[in-house]
Amino acid sequence: MNIKACLFDLDGVIVDTAKYHFIAWKELANELGFDFTEEHNERLKGVSRMTSLDILLEIGGIELSQEKKLELADTKNKRYVSYIEKMEPDEILPGVVSFLNELRLAGIKTAIGSASKNAPLILTRLNLTSFFDAIIDGNRVSKAKPDPEVFLKGAAALEVSAQECVVFEDAAAGVEAALNGGMKCIGIGETVNLGMAHMVIPGFQSFTLKDLEQMN
Ligand code: BG6
Ligand code: MG
Repeated sequence: MNIKACLFDLDGVIVDTAKYHFIAWKELANELGFDFTEEHNERLKGVSRMTSLDILLEIGGIELSQEKKLELADTKNKRYVSYIEKMEPDEILPGVVSFLNELRLAGIKTAIGSASKNAPLILTRLNLTSFFDAIIDGNRVSKAKPDPEVFLKGAAALEVSAQECVVFEDAAAGVEAALNGGMKCIGIGETVNLGMAHMVIPGFQSFTLKDLEQMN
């Protein structure tokens, strides 16, 4: 098999943290006096914390100073962290652990490529850290997806070429980032959002190494 490494986005691929991001952003919006819906929340997938806040303020039609924005982003993050600190391993998405085990046994390298600065906390909380050979998170990148930086750094850390990598992503910006980096990409979710990926699957429930091999 040509595939030597699998790179995983975290939020929405390994674990369903989107609901906690949503609750924390919604609380903030409500305090600022406007509503924030699940549909609005779709726009924040894969997007950095500060850009998410900008989108939220645009939805509410609010303009604020940079200082105030930093304060609000911090408030949101503290709430988000208070939710994820209570997460349990049963919140890992179905099929993820067995697929990661298969990769380990097959000697395929693994990395996280996430925009989240909370990635290490989530992985520790869910006992997942040891499944990954490298963790590239929001603290280690300067360019947001769809820039391929996060995945190219992942490939470099694993000492493989981009062509030898497959990226798993649930956000359109993330799929674009993988393609921009010259990598193969499997979308996690619906074709309507992720149609440009090489393959789209609903999740890892019935996805195995055999299916991955067919990408060659
Ligand atoms: C991405 C999420 O993985 O991380 C986004 O899809 C989130 O919704 C971004 O805004 C940044 O996360 P954090 O945890 O650093 O605020
Ligand atoms: Mg994601």
